[in-house]
Amino acid sequence: MIDLRAQMATVAEEVEAALDRILPAVSGPQARLHEAMRYAMLGGGKRIRPFLVVAGADLFDVPRARAVRAGVAVELIHGYSLVHDDLPAMDDALTRRGRPSCHLQYDGATAVLVGDALQSLAFELLADPATHPDPEVRCALVRGLAEAAGAAGMCGGQMIDLLAEGRSLTLEQILELQRLKTGALFGFACEAGAILGNASAAAREALLGYAADLGLAFQIQDDLLDVTGDAEVTGKDLGRDAAAGKATVVALLGVDGSRRRLETLRQSAIAHLGRLGPRTDLLRGVFEFVISRSS
Ligand code: IPE
Ligand code: IPE
Ligand code: MG
Ligand code: MG
Ligand code: MG
Repeated sequence: MIDLRAQMATVAEEVEAALDRILPAVSGPQARLHEAMRYAMLGGGKRIRPFLVVAGADLFDVPRARAVRAGVAVELIHGYSLVHDDLPAMDDALTRRGRPSCHLQYDGATAVLVGDALQSLAFELLADPATHPDPEVRCALVRGLAEAAGAAGMCGGQMIDLLAEGRSLTLEQILELQRLKTGALFGFACEAGAILGNASAAAREALLGYAADLGLAFQIQDDLLDVTGDAEVTGKDLGRDAAAGKATVVALLGVDGSRRRLETLRQSAIAHLGRLGPRTDLLRGVFEFVISRSS
């Protein structure tokens, strides 16, 4: 039996320690930026994306330190996306990870710069030879993360999310929105281990299939928690999606319909894992965690 929670906690500790080392020390005339970057990144978050990098990398016997570095790069992009997502110009959220959102703790301009600097740091980390000795592998990581984070991935999805406020989208349009805004980064998190481990094309494809189901399930559960969750547990202000007229699967299919959709995605994810050999217990456990989580 795998102890998923214990393994997630271990990776979260490794990520926290690596972030503490990698984030700039608070010093100099721009110390406020350093402090706000640390505020946004340290002491919170489930660290599920780095965990996926590590779990995927384990399938291909990638040295742990390399996987953690790639995981931290993904987490930096994720952290930047949250800081910007909470800005008044986007979701105007007051609370994140149980604390005031970065722009409230500091100010809007600082929060914009925090996101910018976290994004740069993510690519600096991947481009460093400590991440992998082969420059071609580093290049593939940089390119993969750039695609997942940019206009064809997370940023594109965020644009559609904002444009869809108060408009009714079809289920297909909502799934496409979520595939970009959330799924793309999950896809890279799963693929990063395969890139680091020079995995076969077939293994990569199976991992990406799993990641697509997982990313969608993750966002559907996030949207469910916005309706049914506990703000103390999630650490963010809830009920905002309906108030903003967000296009979500929950708004379209309701709570029960969304839960049925999660079950369909679970079956599909398990089928993809079946093509990856016998060592997929962790990835299967992550899926169960994602659809049953309360934070
Ligand atoms: C929240 O992500 C943003 C979404 C993509 C739904 P997480 O739920 O992973 O946030 P943290 O990192 O645990 O705070
Ligand atoms: C955000 O989705 C996805 C990102 C790319 C940041 P949400 O707007 O639903 O995330 P939360 O609920 O604020 O964490
Ligand atoms: Mg949002
Ligand atoms: Mg939001
Ligand atoms: Mg949400």
